[in-house]
Amino acid sequence: MLSLPPGPKRWPFLGSAFHMPKHYAWRTFSKWKEIYGNIIYLDVLGTPIVVINSASAARDLMDKRSSIYSDRPRPVTGLDQTFPLKQYGEAWRTQRRLISQYLVPSAMPEHHMIQGEEARKFVLRVMSNRDLHWTSKSLRKQVELGIAASIFNVTYGYPLNSTDDTFLRQSTHVMDDFCKTAEAGVWIVDMIPQLKYMPSWMPGSGFLKIARDLRSNYEAVMKNLFQWTKDNLNNETAIPSICSAALSSNLSPSQELEEQLSFAAFSALAGGLDTNISTFLSFIFVMTLHPEIQTKARAEIDNCVGNLRLPTLDDKESLPFVRSVITEVMRLYPPTPLGFPHSLQQDDVYNDMFLPKKSIIFPNVWYMLRDPEVFDKPEIFNPSRYGGLDSEMQKVTDTTFGFGRRVCPGRYFAENTIFAIVATLLATCEILPPSDSTGKECKSEVPVAGTGTIA
Ligand code: HEM
Repeated sequence: MLSLPPGPKRWPFLGSAFHMPKHYAWRTFSKWKEIYGNIIYLDVLGTPIVVINSASAARDLMDKRSSIYSDRPRPVTGLDQTFPLKQYGEAWRTQRRLISQYLVPSAMPEHHMIQGEEARKFVLRVMSNRDLHWTSKSLRKQVELGIAASIFNVTYGYPLNSTDDTFLRQSTHVMDDFCKTAEAGVWIVDMIPQLKYMPSWMPGSGFLKIARDLRSNYEAVMKNLFQWTKDNLNNETAIPSICSAALSSNLSPSQELEEQLSFAAFSALAGGLDTNISTFLSFIFVMTLHPEIQTKARAEIDNCVGNLRLPTLDDKESLPFVRSVITEVMRLYPPTPLGFPHSLQQDDVYNDMFLPKKSIIFPNVWYMLRDPEVFDKPEIFNPSRYGGLDSEMQKVTDTTFGFGRRVCPGRYFAENTIFAIVATLLATCEILPPSDSTGKECKSEVPVAGTGTIA
C-alpha cells in the first residue's frame, strides 16, 4: 500500500493547519527538509499540499509530467481572470498565446532599443539627483519607474515618465495587494470554499476584503490601460506594442478576443513588475556589500565596450561576468521564493509516494537555489561559481522562472531588462552603501524578503 509523503502531524479534520507557516513559509519548508526530505505533505482542512524541496524532483514532476501538473489552485476570491491564475484550459491557452509570441527569444531584438533607452533614462535620473538624500523609499520609486517603463511601453505602448504616473501607482498598488492575498498561508485559506463566508470579525478574514478591493482596482487599471491603447490606435497615434500589434492583426477583433487580450496584457504587466523590481533592488543591495565584484564587472564592461559608449544588449554575450552577477543575485534572492503554486489534476505516484489529485504543489525555489548538493557553499555570494558558463547559470534560471507549461513567458524579456539596467548602472556609477546626514557610512541591512508571493 502506498503512503503519503512524510510531513508534520495531521489532526482529524484540521489536518496540519496548525503547522502551516503564516510568513516566510519557504524558510520553514527548508528546515523541514532536514526532517521530512524532498517531498513534504500537509493537509489543511482537507486540502492536500505538497512541498517540493529539490530541483530534480520538481523537474521530474512539474516538467516531465506537465500534462497533469499545470493547473492552478482555484481561488475562492475569484481573482482568476488573468492567466497566471487561470485554470489549465482553453482560456489560459488563448491568453498565453496572445502575449507569448511577442516574448519568445526571436522577438527580443525588437525590444532592445526600449530596454536600453529606459536603462539610460534611469541612470540619468539617479545621477541628476545625486545630491538628494536617498531613502529606501525614494530609491524604490525610481527603480519602479526604471523597470516599469520598459514593460509599460512594450505591453501598451504607454510612455512612463514620472514616479507619480497614475497608471504606475495604480499598478504597483494592485501588485502590493496581490502579494498580500497570495502569501502561502493566506493562499491556502483562499482555496477553502467554506471560508469565503467568514464573517469580517474573524481572524484571517482580512484578506477577503483586500481581495475584493484588489479585484475592482485591477479591473479598473486594466480596462483603462487597454482603452488608452485602443484610442491611440484609432487615432493612429499608437506606439507599437503587444496590444496594438494583437489588435491590428485582427481586422475586426471580437469582444471576446479583446477581453482575453486585455487580461493577457495585464498579466504580462503584472508578471513583469514586482519580480524585476525585486531583482534589481537586490542587485543594488548586494553591490553595496561587494565593491570588489563591482570593480570586476566594471572592468569586464570597460574591456569589452571601451569608454566611448555605453554597453547595450548587443554586448550581452560578451559580458559573462555581468551575467553571472545577475544570476547570483537571482539565486540568493529569488523574487518568487516559493515559485507559483501548481495544482495536480489527477492522483500520481512518485518514488513510492502517493500524491493525491487536487494537491496544491509548492516548489520551494528558495531552498532549491541554496541546495548544498547543487551549489557549493550556497550562502556565499560568488558569481565566479558559474565559470562564465551559461549551462551553469541555467541551473538557476531554470528554477527561478518556474516549471513545465506554466514556465514564465516573460523570462527572456526579464533577463534583458535587468541586464540593460545593471550594465548601464555599472558602467556609469559606483554603488556605495548608504550614509547618514553627516556622511558616515551606515551598515547595509540584509533586505528582508516580503512575506508575500513576490519577495
Ligand atoms: C526576474 C523576473 C521574473 C521572475 C523571477 C519570474 C518568475 C515567474 C514564475 C516563478 C512564474 C510561475 C511559473 C510556474 O507556475 O511554474 C511566472 C509566471 C509568469 N510570468 Fe514571470 N517572472 C519574471 C518576469 C516576468 C516578466 C518580465 C513577465 C512579462 C513580460 C512575466 C510574465 C509572467 C506571466 C504572464 C506568468 C504566468 C504564466 C502562466 O501561468 O502560464 N514574468 N514568472
